[in-house]
Amino acid sequence: MSATDAACQQCIRPDCGQRYALGEALVACAACGGLLDVAYDWNRLPVPKTLADFEKFWSRRADPLAFSGVWRFYDLLPFAPRDRVVTIGEGQTLLQRADRVANYVGSNPGRLYLQYEGMNPSGSFKDNGMSAAFTHAHWIGARRAACASTGNTSASLALYSCVSRLMQAVIFIGSGKISYGKLSQALDYGALTVQIAGDFDDAMQRVKEVSQQLGIYLVNSVNPFRLEGQKTIMFRVLEALGWEVPDWIVVPGGNLGNSSAFGKAFAELKQLGLIDRVPRLAVINATGANTLHGLYNGQGVRWNDGRIDQNKIAAFYAEMDEHKRRASTIASAIEINRPVNLDKCLRALAVCNGVVRETTDQEILDAKAQVGAGGLGCEPASAASVAGAKQLVAEGVIGRDERVVCILTGHQLKDPTATVAYHTTDQEQFNKVLGARGVKRASFANRAVAVSNDLDEIVRAIQLYG
Ligand code: F0G
Repeated sequence: MSATDAACQQCIRPDCGQRYALGEALVACAACGGLLDVAYDWNRLPVPKTLADFEKFWSRRADPLAFSGVWRFYDLLPFAPRDRVVTIGEGQTLLQRADRVANYVGSNPGRLYLQYEGMNPSGSFKDNGMSAAFTHAHWIGARRAACASTGNTSASLALYSCVSRLMQAVIFIGSGKISYGKLSQALDYGALTVQIAGDFDDAMQRVKEVSQQLGIYLVNSVNPFRLEGQKTIMFRVLEALGWEVPDWIVVPGGNLGNSSAFGKAFAELKQLGLIDRVPRLAVINATGANTLHGLYNGQGVRWNDGRIDQNKIAAFYAEMDEHKRRASTIASAIEINRPVNLDKCLRALAVCNGVVRETTDQEILDAKAQVGAGGLGCEPASAASVAGAKQLVAEGVIGRDERVVCILTGHQLKDPTATVAYHTTDQEQFNKVLGARGVKRASFANRAVAVSNDLDEIVRAIQLYG
């Protein structure tokens, strides 16, 4: 039997559970509007006996499916025939032991790790999911793909589109809501870029309508296949830890696709007997974009075996609209009001005994500076994970000796404006970019030293500051 005969799409709501064929392009359950999973009948699939079985692919790196950090785990996301897989070499990412950052967070040496998803071809974790969504889209014959984005999904879609030449990319972004690093990628890669006078949530709403009207394949993370690819971030974390399960995974929360995918990954590994316990999950909002925090900690909304209190969520959004509260944070990647994967994230939090926290722009930028000084660097949204871990260690929720993995979702060069403003000596620039967002100080700034073009003065400056 082919692997794909034993998989389908299925509504995540237990009281519905409607199933759909893999060949359909859906972003919600037609019966009840719930989110969809890719569901597998593992009893009918060739599942590895141990996770170490995946190591055999390391010796076969000339094969694109073995080279890809997503597709060497094919057996754990076997929704499409192998010969239809679209890969551009995603997932060559790194888990780094980060003692300097551990010290900042309050963890003991050797206990904190950073998972650098910025090393993907388009510079963010999105490529894990885009490879999977493109695989599905290509398999079912789509010719155009669209997304709304705060910048990284669009960069990824644009890249897959131009490298694979399989699909035309149409991207929707909020006007002035995306960092230049990300916008420049979409433009350079040749995507049709539609700037909407509105924010991410407006763009998301419109892209759903437009894709339906024009029959364009939607690659936002409401697409269940995207999340299959993003599961592999966790497989690589385990791989880098010698297949040992860490105590904590800490991840920034925006549209909540990653956290949802991680929860599904661990639930499946546990079900398959490939791990004996799941890690705890911490999802970190920015204070300026804290819907999950508000609902989870403020309103007590829980997965509750699939019976989520949708009335509480509706009331929360109604109140948000009534007071015209809109997300605003320096971490523009997670500047989102209505996270589309909320229900799945609640399920992940239930599976992983999770916690949710919010962290200020000040904390995010200080954490980002620490990551930059002690490792490969990241964009602001990514540093929410480190800022969140620091908070949780201070609270005693994360023990100093527990093994923690913070996910760094995007590359340092995605948003140079925030980085340069943080380190600048130009007060006007600091105020314009950061002060306006309530950031008061740059505690870990590395100031450039200004000198005149004079050899003696340059030498003196180096002796003084070096
Ligand atoms: N970090 C970065 C760098 C992101 O780009 C995003 C999301 C997130 C974290 C949040 O991840 O949505 O899975 O909770 N960026 C999306 C985009 C929304 O359009 O690029 P999530």
